[in-house]
Amino acid sequence: MIFRRAAVLAAFAAFAILFTACGPKEKVVKIAVAVPLTGDMGTEGQGLRRAVELAVEEANAAKRFPFKLVAAPYDDRADPKEAVNVANLIVSDARVVAVVGHYNSGCATPAAKVYARAPIAMVSPAATNPEVTAQQNSKDWMGPRMVFRVVPTDDVQGSYAALFAAKKLGKKRMALLHDKSPYGQGLAEEFKKGFLAQGGKIVSEDGISVGDKDFKALLTKLKSDSAKPEGVYFGGLYTEAGLLLKQMRELGLKDPFAFISGDGSMTFGLFDVAGDAADGAYLSIVGVPADELPSAAKFVEAYKARFPSDERKPFDHFGYEAANIIMAAMERAGGPDREKVIAELKKTKHDGVLGTTVFDDKGDTTSKIVTMTRAVSKKRAFDTVR
Ligand code: ALA
Repeated sequence: MIFRRAAVLAAFAAFAILFTACGPKEKVVKIAVAVPLTGDMGTEGQGLRRAVELAVEEANAAKRFPFKLVAAPYDDRADPKEAVNVANLIVSDARVVAVVGHYNSGCATPAAKVYARAPIAMVSPAATNPEVTAQQNSKDWMGPRMVFRVVPTDDVQGSYAALFAAKKLGKKRMALLHDKSPYGQGLAEEFKKGFLAQGGKIVSEDGISVGDKDFKALLTKLKSDSAKPEGVYFGGLYTEAGLLLKQMRELGLKDPFAFISGDGSMTFGLFDVAGDAADGAYLSIVGVPADELPSAAKFVEAYKARFPSDERKPFDHFGYEAANIIMAAMERAGGPDREKVIAELKKTKHDGVLGTTVFDDKGDTTSKIVTMTRAVSKKRAFDTVR
């Protein structure tokens, strides 16, 4: 063990000398944080950026590496094309060892193809569509398997919500809505599959677009539907979810008419958009909220101390964990070698804020926990439904 540690330190030292001799003066290794930093989803990406920064600062303060580690933010604007652009920028910077990203599945899936060709590891803290990792099994995949994620996937999340709607809420007829994105549509389809398997009926299916503002016609149609839906399941993000809720309440669609959605809607921005119209909405989140995880208590405290005026977002502990998992892999790899880090990531057995994380042979976490919450606007909080 001592010899192994000595070898690792020697490898790090060799890297440090190399960088001092022929690289930039400051010995810097970067972990890219590729997330939306502007636009509606910028709220979530900024939270993830802060979480990765915290992980990196802690590692630097503990002198974990013989170089300075930096969290390098890249704004994919939640736009698949921009995600590919930033992925190309990332792979062309030799100082980037791995990527924490992306937030949106619609960005993670195409960006991963760029990272595969480099190759460089991508560890997603939030993208839940199964295809993000499953695409690596396609025969067109150009590169090694290098996609990992620390969040459970939407097949698990959708079927969990369906079981909840059918068994806990006793719903028999639901309307389906989604934002036509790979994430939103994919999640809604998983809900449908699960709800049908429970003996439920999907009375209608409609797609909206991200950026749409007026859902009155659609909601009026739902309200007067002779098939009498008892609620709506929405696959999409918080801005559209918030507007839907607001306009639903204006039309009198409220409890016991249910609004159920997933992790893309479960964030504080929902309250900014919907106000008290958010009350009673059911929103699932993959994994367990940080406040309920004893293993995340130290992170929660450290985040508050480091960013006292910022609201911690629901995916931040996943971002912090993704960064720490990359750092642990880099330590085992003996330095910031991209391919060795990929190889070490596959062997991950990380005890951290999420408990123990192990990746299966697709790169997905073996943890399959989903939590159902209910929005409470007065507290600006999501209460866990037990
Ligand atoms: N889980 C959401 C997605 O995959 C944020 O896009």
